[in-house]
Amino acid sequence: MLRVLAVAGTRPEVIKLAPVLARLRREPGVRVRLCVTAQHRRLLDDMLKVFGLKPHADLDLMRPRQTPAQVLRRTLRGMGRALARPRPDLVLVQGDTTTALGAALAAFRLGIPVAHVEAGLRTGDLDCPFPEEANRILIDRGSALLFAPTPGARRNLRREGVPADRIVMTGNTVVDALRWAASRPHRFREPALRGLGSAPLAVVTLHRRESWGKPLAGIFRAILEAARLLPDLLWVYPVHPNPAVSLPARRLLRHPRILLVPPLDYLDFVHLLRRARFIVTDSGGIQEEAPSLGKPVVVAREKTERPETLGRGSLLAGVSRPALVRAILRCARRPERPRAVNPFGDGKAAERIARALLRWARERRP
Ligand code: UD1
Ligand code: UDP
Repeated sequence: MLRVLAVAGTRPEVIKLAPVLARLRREPGVRVRLCVTAQHRRLLDDMLKVFGLKPHADLDLMRPRQTPAQVLRRTLRGMGRALARPRPDLVLVQGDTTTALGAALAAFRLGIPVAHVEAGLRTGDLDCPFPEEANRILIDRGSALLFAPTPGARRNLRREGVPADRIVMTGNTVVDALRWAASRPHRFREPALRGLGSAPLAVVTLHRRESWGKPLAGIFRAILEAARLLPDLLWVYPVHPNPAVSLPARRLLRHPRILLVPPLDYLDFVHLLRRARFIVTDSGGIQEEAPSLGKPVVVAREKTERPETLGRGSLLAGVSRPALVRAILRCARRPERPRAVNPFGDGKAAERIARALLRWARERRP
């Protein structure tokens, strides 16, 4: 019996681990448990509900205005306890959050192997995104098994000296999740979305820590200016609950054609994306989802660890107001043609991850 403990703390971790958990649960030789840190509370709970996941342990860590250092310290302490009994054979983490780093470090200190879903993403700049670039380097360094979503991610790991036999190229599990969500018949749960009508839509999401303050205010001003210049377009922006984002959003984005809505559950959000003409975002997951839906993306960041679609569906615009306005206008008037094939995944990543885990378990047995 292979005993796997998966750990998640935020919205994207649940979305990207859900297909893996569903697949592993079909394996008679695997017992999989889920521990949540609840680094995020509401965003996490919304996603657990959509995917029908019930955690076996919940560290309930979210407190207002916590620093990543505080989240890390409390994750380490809580995971130490969660890993003690029953001791898993393997800890499964996803991405580059404080939760993923804390869980990986706690497992590493107890000698429990770590498998990293979405390994090998790099911008090459420790300040961008901060602190995620450092988190993923540290997680990858200590992992026994690294699931690289793309050839580029695999190359990054090889360049850093990770042995080839630890890396499995799988595609990104977000494409598995997206296909599941997009294939379901759907009626919006969020009342504000029910009366959208047929107006062309732009969808916005923003939350990156390195943009808080002046850069984020510049991004909001760019969106406001673009809204004025593009009179046919309706903007829908599900606002991240972090007050560093939600307060300036409500203060600066006052416009009759900019609709601010609460964070959406995954089904509402995917079906909103399907209706979008284009997307303005700093989200990692959305850069990966957009190509599957054929949607162009303006990336409101200085650097991206997801270069696969640059110039072929996505535009890296930076965060300065004039550059962003130019990029948005260009995207609205002459959209980048997304590639026909999504370079981030084909919807079979969870299957490849499950097979690799089973192979790893077989090879380890004495
Ligand atoms: C974290 C991840 C980031 C990921 C993002 C997903 C790290 C270092 N970064 O960033 O990679 O893209 O999550 O959203 O882990 N809040 C609520 N309710 C919620 C969620 C958040 O009120 O449901 C507020 C809280 O005040 C919380 C704050 O948002 O303290 C920020 O959350 P934090 O854990 O710092 O993570 P993010 O910066 O959002
Ligand atoms: N998402 C969602 N509801 C929203 C906004 C985003 O379900 O209101 C989903 C989105 O489809 C993607 C994920 O959340 O899969 C991205 O999360 P986020 O942008 O918070 O984090 P990142 O991907 O940047 O780490």
